Amino acid sequence: MYSIDRDIESVLADREKLNEICDRLAAQITEEYRDSGRDLIFVTVLKGSVFFAADLISRIPLKCEMEFMKVSSYGSGTQTSGFIQVHLDLKRDVKDTDVIVIEDIIDSGRTLEKLTHLLADRGAHSVKCCTLLDKPDRRQVNLNADYVGMEIPDVFVVGYGLDYDEKYRNLPYVGILKPAIYSK
Ligand code: IMP
Ligand code: MG
Repeated sequence: MYSIDRDIESVLADREKLNEICDRLAAQITEEYRDSGRDLIFVTVLKGSVFFAADLISRIPLKCEMEFMKVSSYGSGTQTSGFIQVHLDLKRDVKDTDVIVIEDIIDSGRTLEKLTHLLADRGAHSVKCCTLLDKPDRRQVNLNADYVGMEIPDVFVVGYGLDYDEKYRNLPYVGILKPAIYSK
C-alpha cells in the first residue's frame, strides 16, 4: 500500500523520543511557572508547531491559555534586521502576562527573534521560547530558545507538523526527507 513513509530517508525522532521530549519540557515549564501568579499564555506559531503544542500543553497541569499566530520574517542573509509580517494575530492583550512561544524548529532564528521582540513590545511581563527542534549551526542572529526538545544537524526534516511544500506534516514522527524529493 502507498505510504508517504517511502519518501523518508531516516527517522530522527520517533513517537517514543517525542514523548520523552514532551514529558521533559512539560515538567520543566510546570515547575518554573507554577507559582508565577500571572496569566500564562502559550503562543503557538502556525502551522508547524500544532502537533508539538498539543502534546506539550496537554502535559502541563497549570491554568493557561492557548493562542495562535501565523507570521513570516523577511531580511537578507547578512543582515540581522528585517521585519516580521503577521498573517494571524493574537485574540487577546498580553500585557503583564507570561508568554511562552512554541516553535517547531529554529533555523536562522529570524522568525523567533522578531516575534519575541514584538510580544515584549506589547508589554508581556516575560517572553520565553520553547522549540521542538534546534539547528544551532544555521543560526544567523543571537537567539537561543529557553526550552529545546532536541538539537539536530543541518538536515531538512519533515513530519509531526513540519512540512516540505505543505506536505508531510501528518507523519507521526520527525524524519529526514530523501534528497530526490527536492530535486523533482
Ligand atoms: P527561521 O526564521 O530561519 O528560524 O525559520 C524557521 C522556520 O523555517 C520554521 O518555523 C520552519 O517553518 C522552517 N524550517 C526550517 N528548517 C526546516 C526543516 O528542516 N524542515 C521544515 N521546515 C523548516
Ligand atoms: Mg514551513
